[in-house]
Amino acid sequence: MSKEQVQIFDTTLRDGEQVPGCKLNTEQKLVIAERLDLLGVDVIEAGFPISSPGDFTSVTEIAKIVKNATVCGLTRAVKKDIEVAAEALKYAKKPRIHTGIGTSDSHIKYKFNSTREKIIERAVEAVKYAKTFVEDVEFYAEDAGRTDNEFLARICEAVVKAGATVLNIPDTTGYCLPEEYGAKMKYLRENVKDIDKAILSCHCHNDLGLATANSIAGVANGARQIECTINGIGERAGNTALEEVVMILRQHPYLNLDTNINSKHLYEMSKLVSESMAMPVQPNKAIVGSNAFAHSSGIHQDGVIKNRETYEIIDPADVGVTESAIVLTARSGRAALAYRAKNVGYELTKLQLDEVYQEFLKFADLKKEVLDDDIHKIIELSKIDIKA
Ligand code: KIV
Ligand code: ZN
Repeated sequence: MSKEQVQIFDTTLRDGEQVPGCKLNTEQKLVIAERLDLLGVDVIEAGFPISSPGDFTSVTEIAKIVKNATVCGLTRAVKKDIEVAAEALKYAKKPRIHTGIGTSDSHIKYKFNSTREKIIERAVEAVKYAKTFVEDVEFYAEDAGRTDNEFLARICEAVVKAGATVLNIPDTTGYCLPEEYGAKMKYLRENVKDIDKAILSCHCHNDLGLATANSIAGVANGARQIECTINGIGERAGNTALEEVVMILRQHPYLNLDTNINSKHLYEMSKLVSESMAMPVQPNKAIVGSNAFAHSSGIHQDGVIKNRETYEIIDPADVGVTESAIVLTARSGRAALAYRAKNVGYELTKLQLDEVYQEFLKFADLKKEVLDDDIHKIIELSKIDIKA
């Protein structure tokens, strides 16, 4: 049975770039946009054109060069924003305007000093106005995570009637639990008239470390787009990590969902974004962290050397990592030492390995990690008769 496609909406260049101190210039954004297009993302959110002249230029230039993906620009539910976004997107092969407004009671009261009825009116007006420029209009209900489902369904129904093609349901504050976020999607699927005219989209923030889990709960309950960033970058604790949702869908065939992403480019994409933004990736980051395929304890190393699948659920080559790493530390066993010694030219017999292992442990207790050069020294110290 062929799998249903989940659209990947990358917002590295918009929501991702909102990380303090990680601003990108237009040239850097163009390089990233081109590579995102090659990676196979369906939508590139290129920026928020009215926010600054620099962002306007970036969106305009990205719109000119992107060959396959839809190029999207963010706006508030404000006419001027929409006009400026439409202008920036005019060269795009597939333009999308992403407009919206806060829908939770706290946004309505404190940000807009308004009422639910007036917010629906503004939302509908914005979508209708955006439709005068482009066919593809995505509506976001900001803080949908904390918006009551009944009101959320009403505003969604109104904007679908006004022509919205995508309904973005952001958990702006990263508040929801996966069951809750999934139930929200299910509720909207069951209670919004003509919901099939629009695609439901997950947009989850990571304040409680649940952005990825919430996005997966969203698609398991009928959403068909995930908004995400490379390395999960973004304001505060960040957004859903693109590499994580892509690999989760691939590793769990029973969900019967897949994306158009060429996962072999994930690692290089992660490096590009991290280097361009001078924002290091934490070593234990899922999929793309430097330790994601590194094994350092003896029991695990022994297993992986016998068969990779004992401790790895993903083949590193599938995400563009050359091979799993067997890291030598004081927790490593003989199997790992023999493996690494062989890699630098020593084929040790069982007896020789026993000798060398004793020297290795003394050495390893003094160091965080034993490197290839150290192996030569250890062999020398153990006085066995062997040459590399
Ligand atoms: O998190 C959010 O609500 C957003 C919207 C502006 C789409 O980023
Ligand atoms: Zn966001």
